[in-house]
Amino acid sequence: MEEVVQKEEKRAWKTDSNAVKKVTKPVRISQISNEKELRLDTQDQEFNRVLGGGIVPGSLILLGGEPGIGKSTLLLQIALKLAYKTLYVSGEESQKQIKMRADRIHPESENCYILTETKTQNIFQHISTVEPDLVIIDSIQTLHTDYIESAAGSISQIRESTAELIKFAKESSTPVILVGHITKDGAIAGPKILEHMVDTVLQFEGDRNYVYRILRSLKNRFGSTSELGIYEMQGSGLREVNNPSEVLISKNDQDLSGTAIAATVEGMRPLLIEIQALVSTAVYGTPQRSATGFNVKRLNMLLAVLEKRAGFKLAAKDVFLNITGGISVDDPAIDLAVLAAILSSNSDIPIEKGVCFAAEVGLAGEIRPVQRVDQRILEAEKLGFTAIYVSKNNKIGLKNTSINVQLVSKIEDVVKSLF
Ligand code: TYD
Ligand code: MG
Repeated sequence: MEEVVQKEEKRAWKTDSNAVKKVTKPVRISQISNEKELRLDTQDQEFNRVLGGGIVPGSLILLGGEPGIGKSTLLLQIALKLAYKTLYVSGEESQKQIKMRADRIHPESENCYILTETKTQNIFQHISTVEPDLVIIDSIQTLHTDYIESAAGSISQIRESTAELIKFAKESSTPVILVGHITKDGAIAGPKILEHMVDTVLQFEGDRNYVYRILRSLKNRFGSTSELGIYEMQGSGLREVNNPSEVLISKNDQDLSGTAIAATVEGMRPLLIEIQALVSTAVYGTPQRSATGFNVKRLNMLLAVLEKRAGFKLAAKDVFLNITGGISVDDPAIDLAVLAAILSSNSDIPIEKGVCFAAEVGLAGEIRPVQRVDQRILEAEKLGFTAIYVSKNNKIGLKNTSINVQLVSKIEDVVKSLF
C-alpha cells in the first residue's frame, strides 16, 4: 500500500463550509418526475447512440482504450464539432501538437479551448474563467492534486482527482469526459474503483493495423450497454460508419472460393461480416491453425466436428481464418459461415453470391438456433442477399420475406445444398 499524506489546505471542490446541506426526503415513486433528461447532442451519431442519446448534464464519462487507438482523436473531433463551449485539457500533448491534429480533422472552431495542464487546482481555476459546457480530460492518469502527496498516475492521485472532478460535475451540471489508459491485460489502468465512481464507461477498441474502430459501453447509468458505435480511421479523423454491413463486406465481382458471409449481431446492431478461410496441405509436420478475429479454440473445435461428423479429412491441412476489417467477433452465430468458408476453400468451389449464414454449430454437427434471428434475416434482406441459412429449430417470426430462408439441421444438409 502506498502512503497517503493529506495536507491541511482546503480543497478546491471539497469545502464543506459553503456546501449547502441538502436534506432529501422520501418521495413517492409515482410523484418523481419522469420527464426525459435533456442531453447534449454531440453531433456524432455513433457517440450519441452509445451514450443512449447524447451526454447527460453533470455526468462523468470514462473513455478507455489502448494507446494509439484514437481516443484523443475521437474526443478532439467531438470538441471541434460541438455547438457548445468545450475545454479540452491535455496532460499528454502540447498545444501545437493538438492544433496539428485539429487541422487534420475539422475546420476551425470558435468553441473549443485547449489547455495543457495537469494540476487539478489550476484546471478548476481555468474552468471558472472559461465556463465550458463540456470538459474533456486527456488523461486521468496525468492529473495530480495538491492535496495528496504521491506521483501522478498513482492510485490515490487518480482516485482523488476523479473525486474532485465528480464533485465539480455534479455541482455545476457540467459533463466531464475522462480518457483512461488501458493496461496490457485490457483493464483501465488505476484503481478499479474508478469505474465505480463514474457514470459511464466507454471502451474504444479495434486493431491498430486496420481502419475500423468500435466504441462500446461497458457501464451506463443513463442507457443500455448493448449499443455499439463504429468508426473508420481516415487521414482526416474518424468517420462515422452508419451502415457497417456495407463496408465490412468486400465488393468483389469475381467469385472467390474460401469466403462466406455471416449475419452477426454486435450489441444491438445486426452486422454482416465476411469470413475468409484458406485451407492448404501442411508443408511441415504439424498443421498450422490460426485465426484473426475469431477464437482459435473454437476453430479447432469446428474442424474436429467437420472431421468427425461430416467426414472431411482436414487433420493434415493448414487452416487460416480471417474476419475482414480487423474486427473480432465472438458471436457463436458465425460458426456456420466459418465452416462454409473452410469447406469452400477446401474444395475450391466459391459459395454462390447472395448467400449468407446465421447459425451455431454443435459438437454433434447439429445446426443450432441463434438469438435474434429475425433481425439478422432482415439485415441480410436489406443488403440484397437472396438466401440465408439458419437452423431448423429457430423460431422465425417474419412473414413475406423476399429472401429465401434455408432451414437446415445438419452440416450435411448445408454441404449438399452448397457444393
Ligand atoms: P490518437 O487519437 O492519438 O490515439 P490515443 O489517444 O488513443 O492514443 O490516435 C493515434 C493514431 O491515429 C495515430 O497513429 C495517427 C492516427 N490518425 C489518423 O490516422 N488520422 C487522423 O486524422 C488522426 C488525427 C490520427
Ligand atoms: Mg491520446
